[in-house]
Amino acid sequence: TNEDNIGSLKEQIAKVFEVSLKVTVPEELDVVPLIAACAKKEFGDYQCNNAMSLWSKIKGKGTQFKGPQPVGQAIMKNLPTSDMIESCSIAGPGFVNVKLSKQWIAKSIQKMLTDGIDTWAPKLPVKRAIVDFSSPNIAKEMHVGHLRSTIIGDTLARMLEYSKVDVLRRNHVGDWGTQFGMLIEFLFEKFPSGEVNDQAIGDLEVFYKASKQRFDSDVEFKKRAQKAVVSLQGGEEKYRKAWAQICEISRKGFEKVYQRLGVHLEEKGESFYNPYILKTLDLLREKGLIEESEGAQVIFIEGKKTPLIVVKRDGGFNYASTDLAALWYRLNVEKAEWIIYLTDVGQREHFEMFFTAGKRAGWLPSDESKYPKTSHVGFGLVLGDDGKRFRTRSTEVVKLVDLLDEAKTRCKAALVERGKAAEWTPEELEHTAEAVGYGAVKYADLKNNRSTNYTFNFDQMLNDKGNTAVYLLYAHARICSIIRKSGKDIDDLKKEGELILEKDEERKLGLHLLQFAEVVEEACTNLLPNVLCEYLYDLSEKFTSFYSQWQVIGSAEETSRLLLCEATAVVMRKCFHLLGITPVYKI
Ligand code: ARG
Repeated sequence: TNEDNIGSLKEQIAKVFEVSLKVTVPEELDVVPLIAACAKKEFGDYQCNNAMSLWSKIKGKGTQFKGPQPVGQAIMKNLPTSDMIESCSIAGPGFVNVKLSKQWIAKSIQKMLTDGIDTWAPKLPVKRAIVDFSSPNIAKEMHVGHLRSTIIGDTLARMLEYSKVDVLRRNHVGDWGTQFGMLIEFLFEKFPSGEVNDQAIGDLEVFYKASKQRFDSDVEFKKRAQKAVVSLQGGEEKYRKAWAQICEISRKGFEKVYQRLGVHLEEKGESFYNPYILKTLDLLREKGLIEESEGAQVIFIEGKKTPLIVVKRDGGFNYASTDLAALWYRLNVEKAEWIIYLTDVGQREHFEMFFTAGKRAGWLPSDESKYPKTSHVGFGLVLGDDGKRFRTRSTEVVKLVDLLDEAKTRCKAALVERGKAAEWTPEELEHTAEAVGYGAVKYADLKNNRSTNYTFNFDQMLNDKGNTAVYLLYAHARICSIIRKSGKDIDDLKKEGELILEKDEERKLGLHLLQFAEVVEEACTNLLPNVLCEYLYDLSEKFTSFYSQWQVIGSAEETSRLLLCEATAVVMRKCFHLLGITPVYKI
């Protein structure tokens, strides 16, 4: 469980300050240590910011202290001896700066090398989370919009899993809309025998378009389609079967993309929650939340012009009714403490509305710092070079599989150009092209703050310089090759060698390694994968400044420096893993 994790560096420092705060102001119960990285690096690594706020709390109560600075002094004086801290100083109105001991940093890294990187996982305050991501719609092709949801959602799930949270990865596929009436009727027309397979239907998107055309142009067909929805929702065998066939074909297409991306999801589509809708709405009705408006049943939300429609005028349910039932199910049956939804920012309103409904029903606390909690992770559009929504030359949306294929093909060509076809086995070539190509697509998306739009550009993402997956993967492979070239058995070094962070660049790199857990924690808490990307890029830069300055192989410090190389490679690999990128070891 979570309890075994060491926790972030900040947390470990907080523990030391907690002891001091208890002694310094025993009358102030539950003061939480406020620890932050030092704004000015020359003052130290971390600082404790409690003095100011403590002072304003205690000054009216006849305290012995004469101001915030003396409070800070006392906090510093009362720190227990710890081999973690090398020195402390006071700055401004009582900030306590801490410089960490390089021996302690080195020891912590060595311990990680023996015990494994999993011991560096952050501690999070939740046991079970649901990540609702990818969630394409049946009978429609997955496109770049779904790519973002899939990639960002997978990373968040991976980070939570690493933090030992039990994660339910949910694919909330759109498998229950009114479009099914039209699709089923069209299927019956084309295959009167009812014998369908994927070859027969062919491209499901084309099938969708053709049936839509039929629907829009033929009134009789439209009527039949509307009746088909009722038959389907009423559970009529023939209709259920046709629906299931259409879903299955779609599912196979989605699965191909997930397989390539190495993403695992468990499908619980909209249809799954259908049996829970009536009961959920009854619960909301009991609380007096549902009102009648223009023939529909709605929930009015304060501050919103239009209400949330939960039963349509024709008596049917919709996207919102399903999401309310899913919320009920996830909280009560699956007992999730944190439910995270990934869609484009365009759906923010929908999520805000049903989250508010959940709060008014008393299912979710109105204080958002409390659990259970829901979060909508919105992301921006994928743009083409023309600054418009990403499309291919025609007006068609770009197909995901084609994008991944192209990334891989381009990477393979670059590798062949560098003579790798002669040097490597065909499998190695294939594997590397795939890892780098798919990794590049993922990283180009993840490195941006997700709420902004980003421009999809192969040349940029496949550049081997700058902040790209290609550059980072190569940097990792280079570190691995340094270790290989040394001819040393790294496992022996881990057991017998000692890591010493003597030089400035070594200490900086070491400290950065140690900050891994707090970065993952921040990325999880704020649901921002780009924070981890920044960390990774920074790590490779810090490694470069160490490596370009100091000799590793053949130096007197070889053992220690090889251990530093290894620790860097281990942390880089964990970053790749959390970002869903496959590391490569040779370039
Ligand atoms: N199927 C939806 C879409 O493609 C996304 C569903 C997101 N999840 C949810 N629980 N509403 O836009």
